[in-house]
Amino acid sequence: MATARIERLPLAQAECRVAIAGFGTVGNAVARLLHSRRDQSRLRLTHICNRNVARKKAGWLGHDVVWIEDLQQILDSDADVIVELMGGLEPAYQLVRGALQSGKSVVTANKQLMARFGTELLHLANHNGQYLGFGACVAGGVPVLSALQDGLLGDRLIQVRGILNGTCNYILTRIEQAGISFNEALTEAQQAGFAEADPTDDIDGHDAAAKLAILARVGLRVDVAPEQVLRRSIRDLAAIDFDYAHELGCTIRQMSTAELRDGQAHLAVEPSLVPLTSPFAGILGSQNVIVSTGEFGGDTMFAGHGAGGYPTAVAVVSDLLQAARNCGCAGRIAEHAGIASCETTNDFEAPQYLRFVVRDRPGIIAQIASVLARHHINLDAVLQRPGYDKSGLPFVITLEPCKQDSLQTVLREIAEFDFLAEAPLRMPVVK
Ligand SMILES: NC(=O)c1ccc[n+]([C@@H]2O[C@H](COP(=O)([O-])OP(=O)(O)OC[C@H]3O[C@@H](n4cnc5c(N)ncnc54)[C@H](OP(=O)(O)O)[C@@H]3O)[C@@H](O)[C@H]2O)c1
Repeated sequence: MATARIERLPLAQAECRVAIAGFGTVGNAVARLLHSRRDQSRLRLTHICNRNVARKKAGWLGHDVVWIEDLQQILDSDADVIVELMGGLEPAYQLVRGALQSGKSVVTANKQLMARFGTELLHLANHNGQYLGFGACVAGGVPVLSALQDGLLGDRLIQVRGILNGTCNYILTRIEQAGISFNEALTEAQQAGFAEADPTDDIDGHDAAAKLAILARVGLRVDVAPEQVLRRSIRDLAAIDFDYAHELGCTIRQMSTAELRDGQAHLAVEPSLVPLTSPFAGILGSQNVIVSTGEFGGDTMFAGHGAGGYPTAVAVVSDLLQAARNCGCAGRIAEHAGIASCETTNDFEAPQYLRFVVRDRPGIIAQIASVLARHHINLDAVLQRPGYDKSGLPFVITLEPCKQDSLQTVLREIAEFDFLAEAPLRMPVVK
């Protein structure tokens, strides 16, 4: 302990030179934060790199900063840390690799990059004695990754579950509050700047799956690729689902769950029923919440702004300060030890919500019940609101906990019935 302190004291006085690659929403906010604390911090912004950089130049940064558009120039510069804020896989991957190989530390907010190449890049950082910070990749300004990595290191985490995508949360809460359709809520979200023109990544769960893979790596110590995460879209939800959910004492959120059971990992991003009394139900708009469950310490909750320039910049600058502590020394850096690849399964047991829309006639529920009985799945409740047209009558069946594979078989058999006006919608019920 004493030796480590003596080694670090002189380094604590040294300047840490920072180069930003990607001067967009987050890059701009990071520069502003660094600029505002330039007198109290060892961090000095020296380079900003962006394509067609002339249009990006910000007068408020003064003359100390070098503006460049060639990423190689950043690698060749005297910067100690490169902050990758371009997004996407390329050229971000080559830049981060190149930086770590040339003895620079890296901070990134790029979840797609870290979900796909995180293990490899962390190994590379460790091998080269450099720091690789990625706290901004999950939940923006909520310091959940550092809490899982450090604060809860003494526990053995078995589950991490949360609301990780603000766009989905905004859309779902609008359907719930205004009783509007999915398409109307999506248009509203796009007009309010909460959804991209192409919202696929968010609403079909790709964005949350990348974040969940990172959370699983840090929290559960398992290496799972984002493609192994089960994804279900929120596209098929309708206002009627919220009415039925409320009758069941629940609401609906896009839940991301990573869970370890019997040596197998289950990772899923899907719309789910959550009890109105749960912390997930109270998260509105673009907020994020994550609950980790430890074998010894039980549940711990993290909540706050999941995105936005400044909340994300706070996470980036916190990582930069951590990098600065390591600046010039190969100390404790990237955490990758003990992360193992793990068998994944989607066949976990959970209670289920099934919504049917049918062309009404006698005997429909009996037919569905007989298929469920044949597969040993117990029906829990049947809910049907009056007042709907017989040609498109919605009703809901809830099921006691059942295996996903059995339910899949049941749904395949039910799909053969000619009374279905739409494909059934299924959602797990989270306790
Ligand atoms: N925004 C958030 O709330 C948030 C939250 C958490 C994490 N993140 C992550 O943070 C990163 C940045 O997000 P952002 O919202 O700041 O994106 P952004 O506003 O689109 O900024 C990206 C910047 O990088 C530049 N760029 C892209 N490719 C480049 C290349 N090949 N060479 C040089 N410059 C390039 C872009 O230039 P152009 O102007 O020419 O496009 C733009 O200025 C992403 O990985 C994102 O997932 C963002």
